[in-house]
Amino acid sequence: MKVGIIGSGGREHALCHSLRKSDKIDEIFCFPGNAGTSDIAKNIDINLENFDKFKDFIKDQKIDLIIVGPEKPLVEGIVDFLKKSKIKVFGPNKIASQLEGSKIFTKQICKKFNIPTAKFGIFKNKEEANEFLGKTNFPIVIKADNLASGKGVYICNDFEQSKIAVEEIFNGKFGKAENLLIEEFLDGEEMSFFTIHDGKSFKIFGTAQDHKRALEGDKGKNTGGMGAYSPSRLINDDLENKIIKKIIEPTLKGLKELGTKYTGFLYTGLMIVKNEPYLIEYNVRMGDPECQTILPKLKTDLCEIFLACCNGRLTDINLEWSNKKSLCIVVCSNGYPEKYKKNIEIKNLNKIKFDHPNLLFHAGTKFENNKIQAVGGRVLNFVYMSDDFGYARKKIIESISKLNWSGGFFRKDIGYKVID
Ligand code: AMP
Ligand code: GLY
Repeated sequence: MKVGIIGSGGREHALCHSLRKSDKIDEIFCFPGNAGTSDIAKNIDINLENFDKFKDFIKDQKIDLIIVGPEKPLVEGIVDFLKKSKIKVFGPNKIASQLEGSKIFTKQICKKFNIPTAKFGIFKNKEEANEFLGKTNFPIVIKADNLASGKGVYICNDFEQSKIAVEEIFNGKFGKAENLLIEEFLDGEEMSFFTIHDGKSFKIFGTAQDHKRALEGDKGKNTGGMGAYSPSRLINDDLENKIIKKIIEPTLKGLKELGTKYTGFLYTGLMIVKNEPYLIEYNVRMGDPECQTILPKLKTDLCEIFLACCNGRLTDINLEWSNKKSLCIVVCSNGYPEKYKKNIEIKNLNKIKFDHPNLLFHAGTKFENNKIQAVGGRVLNFVYMSDDFGYARKKIIESISKLNWSGGFFRKDIGYKVID
């Protein structure tokens, strides 16, 4: 079979790496992929905004299955488009993707089905928002309604900070803003909970803990994720049951009432307060870097799982997992998540031996003129699987020291809550 993966990050390299293990697969295409995927797949630089051209390429090459990594094409309706052309595709449709595409869409489902989440208000202009903020208690959370790669969220400690957030969002920092959301601040510990869906049923696809802030000690700006470990230290049977009953099942019911269903990965971003789950946000895809920690533990053929989801027969598949612990540290370009330089060579990668359980997934890299160059904010993902999170982190830091790359930085404290 021929499979195509949309995306260019660490998540997509991890997907590619897992799919490579399947006997079912003869060839993988990555749209556009990175230096890491170019070793095991064919990278194709195609304009994904032009759905028609993309469809023609898939038909010409006789690609049997498309996996969509990132949220943008999902929210833009690529699944609906490809399905109409009779192309098999794994991911949620345009309506269901609103769970990530519009925070207000999700909040409305939460309200209707009593899903535990932060109390919130929707504000249509600066004046209304500032009037409310003048009377409220802090800290408070202000969010842009659009897709913002994890960056459109402000945790504000006082009125001055909140005024800046309102100003920036309505001035279009995250795209045209017709609304913003002001939310109660939830004081707890975060967890990412993953499920995989075939439109009729779903299965749990692991848990992880991301580290969103750029600097050690959870300081600095919000990023796409600086590192993760799996499983989350918070998960237990009681909590798992509450997440399913109070959050995921009512959400699927909400989608059903809208006349649709969910196929694909669903990432439930939670705040856990005293073993009670509160929904912070949904993402309609795997997390990045959470995916890089979860997929290496999967023992079942990933291609079989995707095919089962596309055919509505996920119940036939038994998901098998290694019970090892897995940790990922992301190496980023200096300056990320703000401005950083591009096309900086990474020289020493060949000095490090990567072999299971020591894995490397590329993100913002490109292979050109026989050199690996950093072209993105998040550049490399070092993953290690072990019985012990502390040992995994030690092994990763040893590898990153061998890399000795002056163009990048990373957090040495990933997993500090599970490592003494
Ligand atoms: P989001 O893009 O909605 O995931 O938000 C980004 C990050 O902001 C989350 O991962 C949390 O760390 C934080 N956050 C978002 N909403 C809240 C909230 N209501 N209370 C506390 N922290 C929040
Ligand atoms: N790691 C956060 C995300 O994928 O959105």
